[in-house]
Amino acid sequence: MALVPYEEGGAFGLKRFHSSDTTYSFVNHSIQIKQNWKELGVAAVVWDAAVVLCMFLEAGSINLKGSSVIELGAGTGLVGIVAALLGANVTITDREVAMDFLKSNVNENLTPGLQDKVFIKPLTWGRALEDFPTFDVIVGADIIYLEETFPDLLQTILHLSSEDSLVLLSCRLRYKRDQNFLDMMKLQFTVTEVHYDSNTDVHIFKAHKKIQRKEL
Ligand SMILES: C[S@@+](CC[C@H](N)C(=O)[O-])C[C@H]1O[C@@H](n2cnc3c(N)ncnc32)[C@H](O)[C@@H]1O
Repeated sequence: MALVPYEEGGAFGLKRFHSSDTTYSFVNHSIQIKQNWKELGVAAVVWDAAVVLCMFLEAGSINLKGSSVIELGAGTGLVGIVAALLGANVTITDREVAMDFLKSNVNENLTPGLQDKVFIKPLTWGRALEDFPTFDVIVGADIIYLEETFPDLLQTILHLSSEDSLVLLSCRLRYKRDQNFLDMMKLQFTVTEVHYDSNTDVHIFKAHKKIQRKEL
């Protein structure tokens, strides 16, 4: 199912996706992101959920310095870039088709020193998960939107997280089915809403894997 990029103000929102450059300021850095909606669609534009998650990370309630972070469905890589600027060792992932665009946005915005701390790897949810270890923090912006991917996305998050990991997901809950993903997640994770941005209608949820009790 295709994602409908609706925005308050309709045409204005769509115009924003069609602009080939957008600039953000995070962690005292000007970050210039290239967009290409026409050729690459959802993976090549910056979604509000990414911007809100970057603001949340920059505000500092979670100390990312030195932690291992993986970003799922990174698109242009804005969240991964900000995590790297905040001192994390970041693995930024998306589908194979999005790799070249993602790499170019990330490398354009990080110094060679920071690029060394960032890995950009293809990861299609549910596939070849054995290539990935567990991470301290798993982040994803606007990745809860394709119902057919929900089981694979959940399996991926489960694989990447230990009982000490923190999962941070930012999203708009556009349709009832998006809430279904959170309900699926709650069977294996403790899920709490930690932020809501009323300007963009973006929620941020944090999740921790439930501790499995060993049967006596
Ligand atoms: C709405 S975009 C969000 C992009 C970016 N996180 C942001 O917020 O700007 C959804 C992203 O999920 C990725 N995606 C969709 N299905 C996927 C799958 N099965 N495996 C991995 N990534 C997927 C898309 O390529 C796209 O980059």
